[in-house]
Amino acid sequence: MGKNFQAYFVGAVSALGGFLFGYDIGVMSSILEMEYWKVYFNRPSSVEVGVIVSLLTAGCFVGSLAAGWIADKFSRKRTIMASSLVFCLGAAIQCGSRNRGMLIAGRFVAGLAVGCLSMAVPVFQSEIAPAHIRGRLVSLQQWAITWGLLIAFWIDYGCHFIDSDASWRIPMGIQIVPALILFVAMFFIPYSPRWLVDHDQAEKAHQVLARLRANGDINAPEVLAELEEIKEAVRVERETAVRSYMDLLRFPIRRRIILGVAIQALQQLTGINVIMYYATSIFKQSGLTGDNASLIAQGVNGVVNMLATVPAILWIDRWGRRKTLIFGSLGCGLTYFIKAVATGATQHKTYDEDGSLNLNLPKGASYLAIVMMYLFVVSFAMSWGPIGWIYPSEIFPMHMRSKANSITTASNWLFNFVIGLVAPILIKKITWGLDLIFAIIMFASVGIIYLFFPETKNRSLEEMEVIFTGSAWAHKDRKRIDEYDITVQHNIDAKAADKS
Ligand code: BGC
Repeated sequence: MGKNFQAYFVGAVSALGGFLFGYDIGVMSSILEMEYWKVYFNRPSSVEVGVIVSLLTAGCFVGSLAAGWIADKFSRKRTIMASSLVFCLGAAIQCGSRNRGMLIAGRFVAGLAVGCLSMAVPVFQSEIAPAHIRGRLVSLQQWAITWGLLIAFWIDYGCHFIDSDASWRIPMGIQIVPALILFVAMFFIPYSPRWLVDHDQAEKAHQVLARLRANGDINAPEVLAELEEIKEAVRVERETAVRSYMDLLRFPIRRRIILGVAIQALQQLTGINVIMYYATSIFKQSGLTGDNASLIAQGVNGVVNMLATVPAILWIDRWGRRKTLIFGSLGCGLTYFIKAVATGATQHKTYDEDGSLNLNLPKGASYLAIVMMYLFVVSFAMSWGPIGWIYPSEIFPMHMRSKANSITTASNWLFNFVIGLVAPILIKKITWGLDLIFAIIMFASVGIIYLFFPETKNRSLEEMEVIFTGSAWAHKDRKRIDEYDITVQHNIDAKAADKS
C-alpha cells in the first residue's frame, strides 16, 4: 500500500463535507426555474429569490464563526460529525417546506452545518497531510464541492420532468444520504495529530501519525521527526502565546489574518457564484431559450467546473499558490472582459410578461458569451477554487489555526451572501456592467497577489512562522527566505556529515 494511502483516504472521507457544501449551494439554481416551485411559493420576486438563495450563506457565515471555538474544544473530527447531523435536519426542513418561511429556515439550518464544515474540513485535511501533498489533499474538498454542485444540477435536471411538487422536494431531500454517509464514515477516521498534541494526547498523536505516514510503523524516522516538530511547535506556542481572538489582531498573526480574509473575499469577488446560483437565468437571457437548453447548459457548466479542478489536484503542489492565482486571475479577468464587450455591444433588452429579461443577442455574440462563461469557470476551478481554501488552512500556527480559519471562512461566506443577494438585481439592471466590474477586480487581484502573498507550497505548517514574519511585501522578501533555506540545508548536511 502506498505510504500516503491513509492520508489520502482520510482526506477523501472528510472531503465529503465539501460535497454537502457544493450540493446545497447548487441545488437551488435550477429549482428556481421550476414551474412547480414557482407556483408553490407564489412566484417570488428577484429580491425574494435573493433572500431564499442567500439565507443558506447567512447560516454558513454564523456556522463558520462558531466552528472556530467548537473545533478547538471538541476536535475537528467531532465538529465534522455533528455538522453532518445538523445538515440532515436542514435538508429535511427544506424538503418538507410548507411555506417560504420554512424553506428559508431550512436553508439557514443547513447553512449552519455547511459553514462549520467549510472551516473544519480544510483545517483537518491540512493537519493530517504531509507538507508535499498538502495542497492536493485540501484540493480534494474543492473537488468534492464541484461534484456536489454537478450532481445537484443533474438531479435537478432529472427531477424537473416530474409532474408534481416532488420535482423540487426530491432534490432537496436526497442530500440527507451523503450527510449520513459522512457521519458514519467519520467513526473510522482518526483525530488530527496536531489537535491531539495540543490536547496533551501525544501518545495517541504518535499512533495516528504512524498510521498516516508509515502504514502503522511507530518507529519510522519521519513519524518520530514530525511528532517532535509538532510537540516543539506546541510547546513554544504555549510559552509565548495567549489564545484569545484578540491575538488575531496582533503581531505575528495580524498579517496572516488580513491575507486569509483577503484571499477568501477575493475568491467570492471572482463572481463564481453569480454563475453557480444564477447561470440558468443568465443562459436564458443570453438566448438559450426553453427550460431544457438552459438547464442542460448549467449541467455542462457543472461538468466543466469539476473537470477543470483535476489539474489543480494533480499539480498545485508543483505550480505553487502564487503563480496559479496570478494566472487564474488573468484568465478570469480576460473572459469577463470579452463577455462584457460581446454583450454590451450587441444587446437589445426586452422583457417577458413575467418580468424576465431577454438580451436578444445575435447568435454569434450569444455563443461567445456562453463560451466565455465556461472558460471563466475553467480559470476559477484551476486556481481560486482550491487555493481560496488551501491558503488560509496552512498559514496559521496551531494555537490560532481554528479561530483564524473561522474568521477567514466567515469572510468567504459574508461575500458569498452579499453577492448572492445583489447579483439577481444587478444582472437585470446593469447586465454586462457586472461583468466589467468583476473583470476590473480580477485584474487588480493580480497585483495584490504579486505584492502581498508569499509562496507556501511544500512548507511544513510549523515553517510558516519563518515565511510570515518578514516583510509584508512578499515580492521583496524572497531573499530572506532563500537564506533560511540555505541555512536549513546546511544544518541537514552538517548532521549527515556528523553521522558518517
Ligand atoms: C467556493 C464556492 C463556489 C465553488 C464553485 C468554492 O471554492 O467557495 O463559493 O460555489 O467553489 O466550485
